[in-house]
Amino acid sequence: MAKSYDVVVIGGGPGGYVAAIRCAQLGFDTACIDEWQSDEGKPSLGGTCLNVGCIPSKALLESAENFARITHAFPAHGISVTNAGIDIATMQARKNKIVKTLSGGIEMLFLKNRVTSLHGHGRLVGGGEPWQVEVVAGGESERIEARHVIIATGSAPREHPMAPFDGERVVDSSGALALAAVPAKFGVIGAGVIGLELGSVWRRLGAEVTLLKPGEVFLPAADEQVAAEALKQFTRQGLIICNGVKIEAIKTNKENVTVEYEGRDGKNVAVFDRLLVATGRTPHTAGLGAERIDLKIDARGFVEVDAHCRTNLANIWAVGDVVRGPMLAHKASEEGMMVAELIAGQAGQVNYDTIPSVIYTTPEIAWVGKTEQELKNAGIAYHRGHFPFASNGRALAMDETAGFVKFLADAKTDRLLGVHIIGPSAAELIAEAVVAMEFAASSEDLARIVHAHPSLSEALHEAALDVAKRATHG
Ligand code: FAD
Ligand code: NAI
Repeated sequence: MAKSYDVVVIGGGPGGYVAAIRCAQLGFDTACIDEWQSDEGKPSLGGTCLNVGCIPSKALLESAENFARITHAFPAHGISVTNAGIDIATMQARKNKIVKTLSGGIEMLFLKNRVTSLHGHGRLVGGGEPWQVEVVAGGESERIEARHVIIATGSAPREHPMAPFDGERVVDSSGALALAAVPAKFGVIGAGVIGLELGSVWRRLGAEVTLLKPGEVFLPAADEQVAAEALKQFTRQGLIICNGVKIEAIKTNKENVTVEYEGRDGKNVAVFDRLLVATGRTPHTAGLGAERIDLKIDARGFVEVDAHCRTNLANIWAVGDVVRGPMLAHKASEEGMMVAELIAGQAGQVNYDTIPSVIYTTPEIAWVGKTEQELKNAGIAYHRGHFPFASNGRALAMDETAGFVKFLADAKTDRLLGVHIIGPSAAELIAEAVVAMEFAASSEDLARIVHAHPSLSEALHEAALDVAKRATHG
């Protein structure tokens, strides 16, 4: 007889594994099916985020930033280092070890919380009450039953029609995270989050990095003022960012990749050692069996869900990158948490208005809430507060003065509508703004909170004060 669970989660990334742990904590007999395999052919929980996404990219960004500091920032401190070098094999081994440690950590959490971990491909094969799920691994298949199913199958890199990924010259983000040597010329199609983060890694290590993107607007999701500052800083660092590009042909041979494109300055031909295609990701539903059970998939390939991640089928839920909304690990996890609590009859919810976005470049970029252009377009009256890191004592001491904090508050009520940071530790600083917005704070609330001196957080304090034009150090 098929083993029966209260909840079966398909996918062991940040959406799926968090949902599974929370379901188990709430007393449900829970299984999580995941098919990810490490390069050594072993199961590796954690999905894209842990294996080839958030974590390895930040590990490499840290290594590359340390190297760039030695070569570019240390001399200003009077520190000189001769013959600084980087051993890419050691750098990659450090990254791989971090991934292994964290993936092993999820295995331990599954054991601790009594989540049954099933390695293999999960497929919905029928049912309703209960749902039937097949787990396929190594040519064998096992059928299990579930009262509830949570789909958390994530997303996959989008291929360029002119340049299929070959894992050698034309790579996706996983390939760009695994390079064994610094390419002399590194091309990127796309100048979004992946292009900028991975472009920064290889630029800091000495590559000439060129990002080619269509459209005239750089970082369209970010506040315009932040995007303009980012473009200035990245250009200063040597990233070559070409807007308004139309790719005409991509030709690959054993040694390099040639990209023919039309840019603002007419026709161009660029030759790269490696080409990263980072033009967005597509939801991953291949082989899930959606069609067998009439699970609704929208026109863009996402599993259709309501605000509580309910699909069109009773007791089938979907979370994370495979559903609408930003493709972010913390969004996936919070949805997983919400669904587990809803299954338990609790009041789970995600506030989609306060999900922070972060780009881990130097300077870091982070924001929450509305951009200034969004407020203008919506005709919402606002007041603006602004404070540059160049006037912040801690930033000066760190020699990291690029960037600013920007507050946008409702003109009538002073309620915070958006906070935008470009500067040192923006990823950490944004948390204060998220908490404030979650508690419906006004800019005056933040202006009246004591911030430690000297600290980068004082820049938020001053920007809050500046909303009422009473910044003391600006
Ligand atoms: P995933 O993490 O993709 O996990 C899905 C899992 O399901 C995978 O293990 C997959 O193998 C498995 N699976 C799929 N189908 C099946 C099936 N039928 N049966 C069994 N298993 C299946 N986000 C951030 O918030 N911060 C960052 O810094 C960040 N950096 C990133 C850097 C890179 C290079 C990339 C590519 C992404 C990054 N992201 C980041 C995005 C983040 O990785 C995703 O938003 C997140 O992983 C989504 O989680 P998920 O659980 O929905 O899906
Ligand atoms: P993206 O949506 O951030 O950027 C895509 C880029 O490709 C844009 O510059 C766009 O103009 C360009 N583009 C789109 N179609 C194109 C085409 N046909 N030809 C040429 N260029 C084209 O997507 P990206 O960088 O691939 O990242 C995917 C997802 O991963 C993001 O949505 C993000 O949520 C997530 N991610 C998050 C990170 C973080 O939170 N720090 C880090 C890395 C990824």
